[in-house]
Amino acid sequence: MNWNLRPATNQDCAAVRQLVFGVLAEYGLMPDPDGTDADLKDIQNSYQVAGGCFDVLVDEAGRIVGSVGLSPVAPGVCELRKMYLSRSVRGKGQGRRLLDHALAQAAKLGFTRVELETASVLKEAVNLYERHGFRRCAPRHLAARCDSAYYLDLIPAARSDGNDGSNEVEPMNWKLRLATIEDVPALEELIPLSVRVLQAPYYSTEQMEAARGAVFGVDRQLITDGTYFVAEAENRIVGCGGWSKRKSLFGSDAARAAEDNLLDPATDSARVRAFFIHPDWARCGLGKAILAASESAIIGAGFSRIELVATLAGEPLYLACGYSEVERYEVPMKDGLNLPVVRMSKVELKH
Ligand SMILES: CC(C)(COP(=O)(O)OP(=O)(O)OC[C@H]1O[C@@H](n2cnc3c(N)ncnc32)[C@H](O)[C@@H]1OP(=O)(O)O)[C@@H](O)C(=O)NCCC(=O)NCCS
Repeated sequence: MNWNLRPATNQDCAAVRQLVFGVLAEYGLMPDPDGTDADLKDIQNSYQVAGGCFDVLVDEAGRIVGSVGLSPVAPGVCELRKMYLSRSVRGKGQGRRLLDHALAQAAKLGFTRVELETASVLKEAVNLYERHGFRRCAPRHLAARCDSAYYLDLIPAARSDGNDGSNEVEPMNWKLRLATIEDVPALEELIPLSVRVLQAPYYSTEQMEAARGAVFGVDRQLITDGTYFVAEAENRIVGCGGWSKRKSLFGSDAARAAEDNLLDPATDSARVRAFFIHPDWARCGLGKAILAASESAIIGAGFSRIELVATLAGEPLYLACGYSEVERYEVPMKDGLNLPVVRMSKVELKH
């Protein structure tokens, strides 16, 4: 028997609730549909849109037999939640697989610490966490059915030079979170700075100035949709970027007269939008991390393809992350100026 892992959507809510509540009943624990289990009424908003992830293990007939989620609880910290396996799948290495997968996802999303709450009657799970290096700690909060809390600090992946890095663990000094409308003034400062410095090798000063505002500006719609991330370091915003479930491929909201219509995940490509990194933080992996968080949320929202319009400065990042060129063209701007850009796409989204 083969089992596949895939991101959950809200269409899976009922099946995941059935799985989780079934396992709880087996161990004599109470479901709490309006409290700690309310997340299962809206998996996408509770997990993927919030900057985490939620994945399900499905059998060959498409039935959900396992689940695991990560939800952000503090800068750089996520909580591992809802790791459940139906009885038929236990003892086959799938619990370890779910946990390994969740820890890899946590690192990919930029978290440096994973916390969890559990109940000591869930002996197999507690054993698995302890074997993976989780340590007991004072709980941040405890759901009614839980009696203990654990944490694990993530160690950077092994390096190609053969040094496993275990003696030089450097905690990441930046964190990702969803943007809020209060961030707009900081973004309005960051964007022109990023453009002026990082696009200078690719565009003339006149082109960058003409593009400022209309092409390179804040799109509040992305923020209110909950699809825009900021990276923070030293208490300031040092990067931003995100994705969109709406039609526009680029541009600030100020440049848009009509409402930006929603896309259909079944037939349309999601958009990747508006990445701007502070010049002091260029090539530190922020762009890649924001892209990974966006892709995870895009898959969670049910899209299977992504399209974007890259500046010439953005093109190397997207090429490095598996996007391919569709066409090169020029965006007409004021005073007869044009901005050369590249339309790119990614069709095989891998989780
Ligand atoms: C494009 C941009 C968002 C990249 O952000 P970043 O945080 O510096 O990118 P990362 O550090 O995550 O880079 C990841 C990988 O992408 C590639 N890459 C990114 N920038 C690159 C560059 N200038 N030259 C060559 N490769 C580059 C590399 O493969 C890099 O991995 P490496 O550093 O290990 O070699 C940033 O340069 C920027 O804000 N530019 C100005 C605004 C802009 O044009 N945005 C794009 C809109 S489409």
